[in-house]
Amino acid sequence: MYHGILEHRLYITSYLRQQILDRRLDQHTDLGRIYRVVSESKPPGAKPHLSEAGSEELVKCLSHSNGWWRDTAQRLLVERNDSSAVGPLKQLATSGENPLGRLHALWTLEGMRQLDSPTLKRALSDTHPEARAAAMRISEPLLKNQPELVGELLKRVGDAAPGARLQLALTLGEVLDPRAEDALAKVARQNAADVYIRDAVISGLAGRELEFLERLLEDKSLREEATGSGNLFRALAGCVFTEAKPDRVNRLLALAANRPSGEEWRQLAVLDGILGTASQGPKVKTKPVRLNAEPAAFAALDKCEKKEIQERAKRIAPLITWPGKPGADAEVAVKPLTPDEQKRFDQGKELYLISCGACHQPHGLGQDGLAPPLVDSEWALGSSQRLVRIVLQGLHGPINVKGKSFQLDMPALSVFDDDQIASILTYVRREWGHTGSPVEPELVKKARAETEKREEAWSEAELLKIP
Ligand code: HEC
Repeated sequence: MYHGILEHRLYITSYLRQQILDRRLDQHTDLGRIYRVVSESKPPGAKPHLSEAGSEELVKCLSHSNGWWRDTAQRLLVERNDSSAVGPLKQLATSGENPLGRLHALWTLEGMRQLDSPTLKRALSDTHPEARAAAMRISEPLLKNQPELVGELLKRVGDAAPGARLQLALTLGEVLDPRAEDALAKVARQNAADVYIRDAVISGLAGRELEFLERLLEDKSLREEATGSGNLFRALAGCVFTEAKPDRVNRLLALAANRPSGEEWRQLAVLDGILGTASQGPKVKTKPVRLNAEPAAFAALDKCEKKEIQERAKRIAPLITWPGKPGADAEVAVKPLTPDEQKRFDQGKELYLISCGACHQPHGLGQDGLAPPLVDSEWALGSSQRLVRIVLQGLHGPINVKGKSFQLDMPALSVFDDDQIASILTYVRREWGHTGSPVEPELVKKARAETEKREEAWSEAELLKIP
């Protein structure tokens, strides 16, 4: 790090570029120092020779008091993948004296792909919470086909250690088993006041929040006074509303409207969850969620005698719309996504976040000096032929987006296959209130064939010639 600059376009903005030139930071490429830090009061310990050590000796080093020895021994064991080490490692993992040694043994076995159900079962009830948590985490890939392991995991509900409970919430979300969902509901109930565990529970639900909320709303043991219960409802309702799927938003509104009397606080929590999503996050101009018809539940909320409920309904009104809603702009009828298109949208969201999102940002508003916005962009929502080509071969500025000129470069992203590009673009054309048409893999395939010979990025003028 002596060089003083990170030579990557992301870090060299026009401002920093001037700084670099002014201070001549680009010139000193042959300097640097390496320090050796030694203790003045303590003599150095024995010199390690781990590269020459046998596997059994390396297993012993996993319990060394010096972390460097443990880490290095673990690395060497994983690299060697020597099957004679497996027995001693399992022995150490399940009955070693030092908890750190047990922890390293577990992760070493994981690195060697040698973990088995009996070892994990014992590790799940380790006396040390960190070892229990590690056992939960590394058991995740095995939980699918090992029902008894799930059984063992479920015994950890109510674990006394917060760290183990947190990992349990995360791991349970990975198990698609009704027993796991029961357990997750229990964990949520017992730990509603703990923000980390609450978020861990929710993070594993992805797409199942509405059913989970329905279930918890029925749970009479969740009380208003218990800090966290309301937050749990709010967070779950917020997730469902953010997804913006018409039938699910309808069900959410019905959940809020149809609470028995005496459950006003539950009602308010769900409504506040809906409102919360509209005010959080970066300042994307929130567009209303499009429902297929006027939701009966909403009308009920709007006419509710209780003032607090009615007041919230009034604030929710601008967040939803439906064909023929009084006072709303004339709505262009938007064809709902077919199940296949919806699948692409969901896959596209994940791909977008790990690729395009790095520059255009997860919120789609772009970032100065890095990438223009996609939200409401005429390129994202216009001709899909042009859009596909931008992804396949990249783009070379200047380009006008929403009346602003950008002079940047976007790299080609043709490494994605046809289905993946169609998914990303379907996502981009339907997220952020967009109503563009989805993109079919067939279209990407054709465009790829038509531009097979092209290597250079597109310019605006060239793109505009394409219909
Ligand atoms: C390395 C950063 C980077 C990545 C990753 C990236 N882009 Fe871009 N993108 C840019 C830049 C920079 C521009 C503007 C280029 C210019 O000035 O000509 C741009 C322009 C665009 C445009 C046209 C202008 C606009 O804002 O509508 C679209 C559409 C687009 N990108 C979509 C995507 C999609 C979809 C992905 C993911 C598959 C993606 N981009 C990935 C940097 C990136």
